[in-house]
Amino acid sequence: MKEKIDAIKEQFKQEIPAIGSMKELEELRSKYLGKKGLVSLQMQELRNVAPEMKREAGKWVNDLKVACEEEIQRLQDKFQEAEEKVQLANETIDVTLPGRRRPLSSKHPVQQVMDEIIDIFISMGFSVYQTPEVETEYYNFDVLNFQPDHPAKDMQDTFYIEPGVLLRTHCTTFQGHAMQTMKPPLRLINPGRCFRNEDVSMRSHVFFNQVDGLYIDEKVSFQDLVATMTEFVQKLYHKEVPVRFRTSYFPFVEPGTEVDVQCVLCAGSGCSVCKHTGWLEILGAGMVHPEVLRNCGIDPEKYSGYAWGMGVERQAMLRYGINDIRLFSENDMRFLNQFVQV
Ligand code: DAH
Repeated sequence: MKEKIDAIKEQFKQEIPAIGSMKELEELRSKYLGKKGLVSLQMQELRNVAPEMKREAGKWVNDLKVACEEEIQRLQDKFQEAEEKVQLANETIDVTLPGRRRPLSSKHPVQQVMDEIIDIFISMGFSVYQTPEVETEYYNFDVLNFQPDHPAKDMQDTFYIEPGVLLRTHCTTFQGHAMQTMKPPLRLINPGRCFRNEDVSMRSHVFFNQVDGLYIDEKVSFQDLVATMTEFVQKLYHKEVPVRFRTSYFPFVEPGTEVDVQCVLCAGSGCSVCKHTGWLEILGAGMVHPEVLRNCGIDPEKYSGYAWGMGVERQAMLRYGINDIRLFSENDMRFLNQFVQV
């Protein structure tokens, strides 16, 4: 038995140098000290040893067991220490590093300009009155005095959802809703998104934002329209920029006008943005057509009013020098990060 024990001791010793990991060490432990391990089997062998030899044999086996246990413990400590070292090295914290900033969200540049436009009109006594993006043909066209054969009503130009229901092509749709449900005086604006079936290009998109407005009261004149639009433009551009009114046609106003501001980029001397005219068209406006008032149950003999509609993207493009409207909807963070407000 002594020889067997010495042989196990020797075998154990020889196996030690090859143990390189906790896993291998665990295997070694179970091979020698496990229930059916080599050392444990020797323990069981003691039963067969002659009584006078038991004491001595017991000591041999016990010494072997202790020796194996100690060696395994030593290796375990060694591996644990090495593991801790690696862990600590990985967890090193450089307290001098600057903190990581959490990216903050910010308003989209179109929304920034839209909010500015809304604030200006609120400061002039208008209230926000919003209506749905999905509209009826009636509120988008008919109530606004579009003739049944008007080309804008064509499926080619307008996104129809089903016959008679469409995505609004302008924010002027709120006029019918407002005038049919409220009594004058009315001072309202309707900011929101509109949709048109256009080819997407640098200058036009299938969706865009508008801010439309409406002012209805007794004795409202064209002069009120001119004064309000002029004041609005000067507030938006923060300076006395020249404004001009050109005659134009929209079915829902009479007379109709288009409002230009002197090109803010070249100060009127002519550049590629204003197509060398020195002027930029920024909104359509006019005196509300008597037929529209009548369609909404308002007496055109007693009341009159003006209305306007403007594109927001165009204002944002001028403000920030952006030459491609598509950039607004591409969600490219390199583009958007330039407009982060702090
Ligand atoms: N709805 C017109 C458009 O989308 C803009 C407009 C022009 C609105 C004249 C008005 C207006 O209220 O009076 O081009």
